[in-house]
Amino acid sequence: MDGKSLKVCIASDHAGFLLKENVCRYLKEEGYNVTDLGTDSEESVDYTVFAKKAADAVSGGQFDRGIIICGTGIGVSIVANKTKGIRAALCTDQYMAKMCREHNNANVVCMGARVIGFGVARDIATEFLNHDFEEGGRHQKRVDIINALDKA
Ligand code: RB5
Repeated sequence: MDGKSLKVCIASDHAGFLLKENVCRYLKEEGYNVTDLGTDSEESVDYTVFAKKAADAVSGGQFDRGIIICGTGIGVSIVANKTKGIRAALCTDQYMAKMCREHNNANVVCMGARVIGFGVARDIATEFLNHDFEEGGRHQKRVDIINALDKA
């Protein structure tokens, strides 16, 4: 999987703003197709607004993947996972980012700017964008069950 062929959106609240800026700039410099959906400053905002904006954009098909950042990553992952078709994974290291793609087919990765540093965040984003889901077999069956929960 070449992550550079994907349409990616990135969003954060005020707590995640500086990390979002850093990761967004890095991904663009590396040649990824990334769109910044805000927020645009460190002024306090509700993480719910920006998490929903990015999750809806992925769910609606405008983007293939989303990256969402808040202070801990927890709030944005809770919000994103309430959106139909979204499988959001809160990741704190590269291994989790790889596995959320291979086993869970996550289409959104969430990170906490008060938890990880710029370097780890860049690595997580890169892993997340460059691994495929292991289609078929046991993981497919489990993701199918997750997807069915959207309709329950
Ligand atoms: C903001 O202070 C903080 O609550 C938010 O960024 C996030 O960590 C919520 O889960």
